[in-house]
Amino acid sequence: MINTLSEVTSEVLEEIAAEQKLRQTHEVFLLFAMGSQFDHLIKLALDRLGVYCLVADPVQVKAADVKRLNPTGIIISGGPSSASDNLPFDTAIYDLDIPVLGVCLGFQMWADHHGAKVGSHGAREFGVYPLELKGGAEDLFAGVPDGSKVLQTHGDRIEPGGEFEVLASTANSPVAAGRLGHLWGVQFHPEVTATEHGAQIYENFVFKICGAKDRFPAADAAEAKIAEIKAKVGDAKVLLALSGGSDSSVVAGLLSKALKPEQIRAVYIRGIDRPDDEAFVKQYFAHLSPMVHDATDDFLKALAGHTKMHDKRVAMRGVYKQVLEAEIAKFGAQFIAQGTLYTDITESGGGHQSGARKAQIKLHHNTGLGFSVPELTPLDDCVKDTARAIGRSLGLPEELLVRHPFPGPGLVVRIEGEVTAEKLHIARQADGIYMEELRRAKLYETVWQAGAVVTQSMHTYTKGDDAGTGLVLALWAIWSVNVFTTEWAELPYEFLRIVSKRITNEIPEIAAVVYRISDKPPATVEWG
Ligand code: XMP
Repeated sequence: MINTLSEVTSEVLEEIAAEQKLRQTHEVFLLFAMGSQFDHLIKLALDRLGVYCLVADPVQVKAADVKRLNPTGIIISGGPSSASDNLPFDTAIYDLDIPVLGVCLGFQMWADHHGAKVGSHGAREFGVYPLELKGGAEDLFAGVPDGSKVLQTHGDRIEPGGEFEVLASTANSPVAAGRLGHLWGVQFHPEVTATEHGAQIYENFVFKICGAKDRFPAADAAEAKIAEIKAKVGDAKVLLALSGGSDSSVVAGLLSKALKPEQIRAVYIRGIDRPDDEAFVKQYFAHLSPMVHDATDDFLKALAGHTKMHDKRVAMRGVYKQVLEAEIAKFGAQFIAQGTLYTDITESGGGHQSGARKAQIKLHHNTGLGFSVPELTPLDDCVKDTARAIGRSLGLPEELLVRHPFPGPGLVVRIEGEVTAEKLHIARQADGIYMEELRRAKLYETVWQAGAVVTQSMHTYTKGDDAGTGLVLALWAIWSVNVFTTEWAELPYEFLRIVSKRITNEIPEIAAVVYRISDKPPATVEWG
C-alpha cells in the first residue's frame, strides 16, 4: 500500500487500483501535505467521509503524475512557509481542471499564482472568529450557517481585488474563502474541532464540488463480515486478544454481533501496555467480561539481563504467543481472532521507513505466529481507515477508534537499559499522566503520537527536606501526516509545565522531565 505518493509508475498505479478495490471505489483524492501541524487531521476528515485520500509529496509529484492518476479532487494543506517562498509545488497542477481546495497556505499558493496580493499584514491572526459568508458561497458552505466560528492561524493573508471571487471573510481576513473556477480556498482550518461545521466543508468539497460518488459502505461491509463470521465459526468458541487499540476493538464489535457471548473469550494481556488500554477495554467491552491475563512476570523474565533495544525487542516476542496459547487451551477455543489488517500482511516483510522493524512487530502481533488453532481475521481486507469506518458503523466510540498507534513491543521501547518491574511501573504511570493531560487539554487528537521515555540519565533533586538523585523522564510528541517524516509538536509551555509538575510530584523516582525537540529525520519517533 502506498504510504506517501512520490512517483506515478505503472506499479504504483497497480497498487492504487488494488487499494481502490479494497475500498470499493474508482476514486482517489490527493492531499499535498505542505507541512502544517494539522495535515493529519485533513486526512482524518477525508477518512471519516469514507473516501480514499492519498498523501502526495509536493517535491516529487508533478502535474504529469497527477494527470496520469486523474484524482477526483486535490487538497493543498497549510504549512509554515509563505506563498512567495520558492515552494516545491508544480503550479501546472492548477491548470489540470481538477477541483482544488487550498487550505491556509494552500489557498495563498494558488491565489498568489493567479496574481493576488498575498503578504504579511502586521497582525498575525490566531484564534476563533465568526465567518461572514458572501454570495457565491452556497456550494462550499452548504449547511454552514453564517457567523459560524472558524480557527484562523496565519501570518500572511490574501488581499481582495484579484481575479477571484471572495466567498467569506472574518474580522482580520477580508478573504477568508475564495474561488477562481475550479480552484477553491479557505484561509482557516476546517479540519480542527475549533472550526464549527468543518467536516461539512470537506463533505461539500468532496461530494458537491468534486462530484465524488463513492463512500466506503461501512455498514454493508460490517453486515457481510458478521455473516461470514457466523458461517465460519458456527457454534465453536473464539479467543480474542483484546488490546484496547482500534483494530482489535473493531473485531470485538464484529464478534459481539455475530456470536453468542458464551462463544467468545476476550483476553487482555497486561504487562507492557499503556494504563488507558486496560481502562478502555473494561469500560467499552464490559459486555464481553474481558479477562485480564497479567503477564508482567513473564515479560520481565524474558527481558531480564537485556540492555540493548534490539535484544529487548527480540526477547519479548514469544511471550504473546505463549500467553495466548495457554488461554486457547483453557477456554477450549477452536479459533483465535486477530485485528490483522490487509496492510499488516502486505507490509510484514517491508520494515519501517526508519529501519527494518515492522517485520518483527507484525510477526509477534499479527502475522505468522503459527497458532495451534486457525486464525479469524475479519479485517484482513481493510486498511486502517476502512476498519475504523466499520467500527463507527457498529457504534464503537470515536475515542477508541482514533487512539494513537502503539508500537508492538509496547513500553519496552520506552525504557532505556534493562526493563525492570520498577521501570515498567514508572513508564506506565508517566504514560498515564501524559495521556490524561493531553486529553484534558484537548491536545490528544492534534498530535499524531506522543510518548514518555524512562531514560538512564540521573538528575539531582530536592523535594521538601529530602534530596538525592532520581531519573530523567523524556516526553515527546509529534506532528505528522503519515509518520514518514515528523516534526516535534510545539505543545504549549503551560501544558508542559502541568505535566512535568504532575510527573515529578506523583512519581517519586523521577527527578526531572525533559521534552524532545528533534524531528524525524534524523530522530526516529521511538527512542529505541
Ligand atoms: P519510528 O521509531 O520507526 O516509528 O520512527 C514510526 C512509527 O512506527 C512505530 N513503531 C513501531 N511499531 N513495532 C510497531 O508495531 C515496532 O517495533 C515499532 N517501532 C516503531 C512508532 O511508534 C511510530 O508510530
